[in-house]
Amino acid sequence: MSSHKRTIIEAFSAAARTYEDEAAVQVRTAERLAALALAPPLAASPRVLEVGCGTGLLTRRLLAGSEDGSFLVTDLSPAMVEQTRAVVRDRRCSFRVMDGELPDVPPESFDLVVSSLAAQWFDELHESLARLARCLAPGGRMAITLVGEGSFAEWRTTLAGLDLDSGMHDYPDAPALAAMLPTHGHSTVTSDRVIMEYNDARAFLAALKAIGANTPRAGYKALPAGSLRRAIAAMGSPCAVTWDVLYAVWEK
Ligand SMILES: C[S@@+](CC[C@H](N)C(=O)[O-])C[C@H]1O[C@@H](n2cnc3c(N)ncnc32)[C@H](O)[C@@H]1O
Repeated sequence: MSSHKRTIIEAFSAAARTYEDEAAVQVRTAERLAALALAPPLAASPRVLEVGCGTGLLTRRLLAGSEDGSFLVTDLSPAMVEQTRAVVRDRRCSFRVMDGELPDVPPESFDLVVSSLAAQWFDELHESLARLARCLAPGGRMAITLVGEGSFAEWRTTLAGLDLDSGMHDYPDAPALAAMLPTHGHSTVTSDRVIMEYNDARAFLAALKAIGANTPRAGYKALPAGSLRRAIAAMGSPCAVTWDVLYAVWEK
């Protein structure tokens, strides 16, 4: 495993207890994604694989919306798996630490593969989507969300204006994500832009840390304190930051 991936695990594991204090976008996304994922037609008693469960925001909504079925609930972070296990007490669920990029399950063994706001952390998004698609039985559905290209534009632009690097990852836009889905099958990709208001950019960065999403691009060198202060001041107070959430649904 790469040291970058280990850093991602540490950041999310450290955030397992604080995650839901700052998860307004994640709650909205889980609600919308659960509705898309469970929309008919879906196999009766579906076999569901969830990748990157975090604290179980999506898990709980899927369980509430399903009468039966079986749910394999997974995350790269052991602490996140334990957090979800602790809050989701449901006999339909089993839990496993698993890297969603390398799904360790038999091919064609699920009717629904779901993941909310985890896949932007994949090293190889395109290849991983193909591997996840292979987990689906014919007629199955993959329904995922991830952070898209328009996210955090205000912070990136402010730093670029000061000739500073934000260290943020490059995220796909909707057409780029659509092009990464397998060509056999039917897919739709949409974008939901949510503008969040923070007291200032320091509060925005603290919110990212509280949800464990503070690991910068591999190889990024943190800004000197003075540069960070200038960037925070340039963002103003309060400040608005866009979250661009991409929803992809693919039917096999
Ligand atoms: C922003 S949280 C989203 C959690 C939850 N799905 C939600 O909607 O609130 C991202 C989650 O993805 C997990 N994650 C990151 N990379 C992963 C990978 N390669 N495989 C599985 N999970 C991963 C993190 O540990 C974290 O729990």
